[in-house]
Amino acid sequence: MAHPPPGSTSGSTGPDLLVLLAADGKGSLRRRLRESVRGAIRDGRLPPGSRLPSSRVLAADLGVSRGVVVDAYAQLAAEGFVSSRPGSGTVVTDTGAQHPARAAKLLIAAPAAGSTAAEIDLRPGPPDLSTFPRAAWAKASRDVLRTLADAELGYTPPWGVEVLREHLSEYLARVRGVMTEPSNILVVTGVTQGITLLVRVLHAAGVLDLAVEAPSNSVQRQVLARYGVRVWDVPVDKDGLVVEALARTPCRAVIVTPGHQFPCGMVMSAVRRSALTRWAEERDGVVVEDDYDTVFRYDKQQIGAVQALSPGRVALVGSVSKTLAPGLRLGWLVSPPGLLTELRTTKRDDDFGTNTLEQYTLARLMDTGEYDRHVRRLRKHYQRRRDSIVDALEHEIPDTTAEGYTAGLHLLLRLPTTINEDTFVTAAARRGVAVLGTAPMYGTQPPQPGVVIAYGRTSPAMLAEAASRLGAAAAEASSATPPTGSTRAERSTDERRPSTAVDYF
Ligand SMILES: Cc1ncc(COP(=O)(O)O)c(C=O)c1O
Repeated sequence: MAHPPPGSTSGSTGPDLLVLLAADGKGSLRRRLRESVRGAIRDGRLPPGSRLPSSRVLAADLGVSRGVVVDAYAQLAAEGFVSSRPGSGTVVTDTGAQHPARAAKLLIAAPAAGSTAAEIDLRPGPPDLSTFPRAAWAKASRDVLRTLADAELGYTPPWGVEVLREHLSEYLARVRGVMTEPSNILVVTGVTQGITLLVRVLHAAGVLDLAVEAPSNSVQRQVLARYGVRVWDVPVDKDGLVVEALARTPCRAVIVTPGHQFPCGMVMSAVRRSALTRWAEERDGVVVEDDYDTVFRYDKQQIGAVQALSPGRVALVGSVSKTLAPGLRLGWLVSPPGLLTELRTTKRDDDFGTNTLEQYTLARLMDTGEYDRHVRRLRKHYQRRRDSIVDALEHEIPDTTAEGYTAGLHLLLRLPTTINEDTFVTAAARRGVAVLGTAPMYGTQPPQPGVVIAYGRTSPAMLAEAASRLGAAAAEASSATPPTGSTRAERSTDERRPSTAVDYF
């Protein structure tokens, strides 16, 4: 059933309306029609202000005489459910009696009592959404609509349209050194889908133990837990994942962020990269390379993807969530050939493929060079912000260390051990600054308190302001006595507050 939003202007016929009249229904046609429309109003499918189809059109749609519809509308008007005015047709009235479905929606939309939105939100998640290249996207989208064959609007390959996979293959080879053919690429709805497809395919193949970096993305951890795999925490050090520790687990699969470790931000060293691919060969294992934000590199040293070292063992996942917008839900999975068939089947069974028009639009953006130009502009934009926050933090909180800012859109601020992470996060929130503590990102106890600062969405002036408020929060947190029961680091994993998607996104 489709109906226009309340207040929309009337036309001669009115919108489509799903009216179910059971053939074996009890009662007269008039009565069944009345009950069907009344039911739609009560359960919220027809909110106040919705315009009903004209009696002529609805009668024709239902194959009943017009008089039946006129009578049913008149009865509903008499009951106060609808009103009819010449020129505006029959409109659902606001009876004030809220039906449960609408009440539920309102409850969800209402802000939680007492909650205040942060003035400066530095939690990781979306990039600066105001940079979305609306004009370029609209132009590419128009070009696609003008030239796309009708057949392409049908079911296209569930693993992605060929032209986008060709562009991705060329782009990933050029920018990330990825070694692949378009046929090994699946277009997915983002890194999240890429990882969940892999986890399910591996699980079905008997890989029940999966290693993750400690620390790592806490939302991803929750997602993995839902797929029934045993998650093993493997520490990272300044060179990235500690491969010797990985080798001590029974795992045959590991998810890593070698290009820009989340959240610590280091780049995995060359020695560790070869150790990791050697481990995969020896263990008959799979490395899942989460390449979520590495196109934003600010220093001269370029580092390619681990995938290039072992295309048969490494699955690389990436998306446009940081370069364009997470709302597009567009990403890629470069599959090791051995997993390709199962991944394609799983993707097909899940959703029959990713939105075709958007795939073509992204392909067009890549084809015209606009995507590259956009990323190049963004790199400068974010580098300015990165420089502002690093300078400001150094000035405002000299006894902390900012780490991992050679790439991406966030840094890790290590706090002195005298500061309690929770106390600091709360003190910052009281000053209108939202930051994310690292504790939920460790499966084990964090070695040192710290917070992630995502600077991408905030202007340099506001970043300077944020740093000054964080300085005040640090001063408050250092003088505060740790809450009874100890610091977070002393609590057991089970006691820790589980992080939620809201924390992260
Ligand atoms: C470590 C990591 N991987 C992946 C993503 C992106 O996920 P998706 O492509 O599903 O939007 C994020 C999002 O911020 C992230 O932090």
